[in-house]
Amino acid sequence: MQPVEIKPSIYWIGVNDRHTEFFEGLWSIRNEGISYNSYLIMDEKKVIIDLCNELSIDELFEQLRRFINPAELDYIVINHMEPDHSGGLKALLNVAPHIKLLGTSRTKEMLESFYGITENIQVVTDGEELDLGRHKLKFLSTPFVHWPETMMTYEMTEKIIFSCDGFGGYGTLNGSIFDDKAQDLKKYEQHALRYFVNIVSSYSKPVKNAVAKLESLPIDVVAPSHGLVWRRDPLRIINLYKQWAEYAGTSGDPEVTLLYCSMYGSTEKLMEVVAQGIADVGVPVTIFNVSHAEMGDILPSLWIRRGVMIGAPTYEGGLFPHMSFVLDVAQRKHIFNKISAEFGSYGWGGGSLREYTERIQGLRWQHFDSFHDKGMPNADDLINGRKFGADFAKRILEG
Ligand SMILES: Cc1cc2nc3c(=O)[nH]c(=O)nc-3n(C[C@H](O)[C@H](O)[C@H](O)COP(=O)(O)O)c2cc1C
Ligand SMILES: [Fe+2]
Ligand SMILES: [Fe+2]
Repeated sequence: MQPVEIKPSIYWIGVNDRHTEFFEGLWSIRNEGISYNSYLIMDEKKVIIDLCNELSIDELFEQLRRFINPAELDYIVINHMEPDHSGGLKALLNVAPHIKLLGTSRTKEMLESFYGITENIQVVTDGEELDLGRHKLKFLSTPFVHWPETMMTYEMTEKIIFSCDGFGGYGTLNGSIFDDKAQDLKKYEQHALRYFVNIVSSYSKPVKNAVAKLESLPIDVVAPSHGLVWRRDPLRIINLYKQWAEYAGTSGDPEVTLLYCSMYGSTEKLMEVVAQGIADVGVPVTIFNVSHAEMGDILPSLWIRRGVMIGAPTYEGGLFPHMSFVLDVAQRKHIFNKISAEFGSYGWGGGSLREYTERIQGLRWQHFDSFHDKGMPNADDLINGRKFGADFAKRILEG
């Protein structure tokens, strides 16, 4: 895309990434892509805020050169050191060798360990201000949104918060960068939820701290480094992040995520009646076959829904491997405090329950009940499976 003026002398100069299949090597973005947003402030002092990944840096330079020879830049603000925003740093230093790098003390350490950069670094502290001429920046320490060195940068004249990963979302920018021009805002909000749960949900407390820190500031524009720039309703995305972070301490909404897998169809047959039982009670159920579904889609469902119904056959004395993997990642992402139940088919000695029980201890999930069937379910199993689903749904409604 071509640069976009956000406010007088303040420009978006980002790039769309429509090629990466797995963000961070794990989260599928094959359908929606992602953007890396940088920002340029042209004042007496010229500042670029955040960069993009290494692959896209030439495209970013092209945009930059429409306004300035990069050698004339005074500062680069490094809100976050993850290589999706800093991968282009060395290339920038090649064309702008005298540029000053602004970041937190942790950023300084990381600049050396990631890129061997030790010079022209100016450490900024929480609340510190920097005069650019007509504009003034204020640096806000927001550790762990998403890494320990993370900060946000507030532009005081135009009241813009450059929030980097915070308030970011998946999804390329399609023709326009702004919330008021987005074709399908609901979709962007879903992308943002997915991004939040995939990337920062383990750091919900730091997210809440960051939101609290911003509460005293007048904000006209939220300008993250992924996804839409929010200017019509800047508080919308801040409030969504706040709301999503608040799920961390609760079990979630009275709905069920049903995760299942099946090699030969026995567990799947049971799954159909378990889902029917849940729906009989009027509780919404969202079903994922963990052998096919994307981890990036499963986790947001777990994050916001109270109930987790697990259907898995016994595989080598334990859970089916894909199911183990989902539960492992859920634990790493701190998806705690759920209510769960487990069912599945086995051939001889079983074992899925044992591994499930171990895994939900780490997840701090409350176990409701189990239901197992040897081989292919018969008519009675299906009746009992439906009742098992209904009983679980009733428990979910109790809170
Ligand atoms: C590779 C493999 C490993 C299995 N390991 C066990 C096991 O350790 N214990 C057991 O009771 N059944 C085991 N089984 C049998 C399955 O649990 C049984 O066939 C079950 O009905 C499969 O359910 P599904 O049709 O939903 O895949 C195994 C089956 C396969 C194919
Ligand atoms: Fe990040
Ligand atoms: Fe990022």
